[in-house]
Amino acid sequence: MDTIMADLELTDDVPPAADDGVWLACIECGETFAPFDEVRYTCDHCEGLLEVRYADLPTFDEFEGEGSGVWRYHAALPFDVGVTLPEGDTPLHEVPRIEESAGVDSLRVKHEGMNPTGSFKDRGMTVGVRVAQEVGVDRLACASTGNTSAALAAYGARAGLETLVLLPAGKVAAGKIAQAALHQARILEVDGNFDQCLDRVQDLAGRGEAYLLNSLNPFRLEGQKTIGLEIMEEHYADYGEYPDRIVLPVGNAGNTAALYKCFRELVKSGAITEDQVPKLTGAQAEGAAPMVEAIHEGLEETNRWEDVETRATAIRIGNPVNAPKALPGIRETGGTAVAVSDEEITEAQRELAGEGVGVEPASAASIAGLHKLREAGVVEDDESVVCLTTGHMLKDPDAAAAAGADPEPVPNDTDDILAHIDDGSSVRRGASKAAKSLALVAGGLGVAYLLRKLRSKD
Ligand code: F0G
Repeated sequence: MDTIMADLELTDDVPPAADDGVWLACIECGETFAPFDEVRYTCDHCEGLLEVRYADLPTFDEFEGEGSGVWRYHAALPFDVGVTLPEGDTPLHEVPRIEESAGVDSLRVKHEGMNPTGSFKDRGMTVGVRVAQEVGVDRLACASTGNTSAALAAYGARAGLETLVLLPAGKVAAGKIAQAALHQARILEVDGNFDQCLDRVQDLAGRGEAYLLNSLNPFRLEGQKTIGLEIMEEHYADYGEYPDRIVLPVGNAGNTAALYKCFRELVKSGAITEDQVPKLTGAQAEGAAPMVEAIHEGLEETNRWEDVETRATAIRIGNPVNAPKALPGIRETGGTAVAVSDEEITEAQRELAGEGVGVEPASAASIAGLHKLREAGVVEDDESVVCLTTGHMLKDPDAAAAAGADPEPVPNDTDDILAHIDDGSSVRRGASKAAKSLALVAGGLGVAYLLRKLRSKD
């Protein structure tokens, strides 16, 4: 599309700034910088987003016999090894019932919730915290809807570095705060939303007070691009072809940008051809969908949504900072973006759980988005699709409890329990359905209220 401003073309010219074949390039003005000579997140000249570039790009052959996880792909990364827990090598689940209900040729679920801290952010942090060591900083910081903070806290702890996390007060799921707390981050609860937290942390980083490890940091995306490498390799091994489409939840659009970079590099190295690049398809919550708006309205950049709301708190984001990298990714690969309701997200979360795949609400947006795009006829029935699920179910225990079945109090007596199971099953289903609708309306509070009521009847 000729509306695209960003220059995402990978060229053969190695600039003098390159250090061991690695450099940073501004995607807006093309300026290049040495990768580790100083702390830098955006272009010194025009403040455009930076991208890590390499003199040599590997094909799949170069990853063979190299262990497992993110660092198996070191030939595509700026270091041979990072601060590792270790991460990556996540399952590409078969989900036959969802495949059937979606009515596509094949459907696999790449469950990034199986990383060490329970989200894909670990892939970015293993590289990002290694870079922090390289540039010699002693305090790390991020704004977060929760998962980034959990990952940064863990990797910061692993590296022995001080960590600050800025979170939107009252809008972060319990599991994520618990992780950041126990991994010894200082948790600063900001009276504002995620985008405002990111404004604050960018200010702190700009004043040299901390090293920023949000996805604005181009090195984070290097680690995250290994999701794409794993999907491509495993899908090819299983089906003899690459997936037609990858559907993923979108918040700050870092992952979308990372996957697009993965595919551009694979094309450039000759590992795949341009027509083998999967269609990048983003899913957002209806209450926080600036990328969907930009795609549907053909905008060059996203509008900042000031008021955002969704049960999928991980993607409660109104100003996706990686949009200049991600919008071309969606457009150039022939993908699209779709907004889904909170109810559709919860339904998809249940559907995944019914296949044994436990994910947090934001993750289920990919499956919800696939259903919606199938119904609209945008995704065709002969497509092979991979949906990304980005975080583990236990990240948000309140959402899981609200979406799932309710506990049934029973007496401490085996015969009574058997009687309850036998004659109560149809009653239970009805009761549980009613409880679910109530819980959906009132969220976690609904469940607590019901439990109290049931208990008071004993
Ligand atoms: N899914 C989950 C579970 C997330 O935590 C996030 C982002 C996304 C999807 C969106 O990814 O930003 O690359 O488009 N979470 C960030 C955080 C913002 O702070 O944990 P994106």
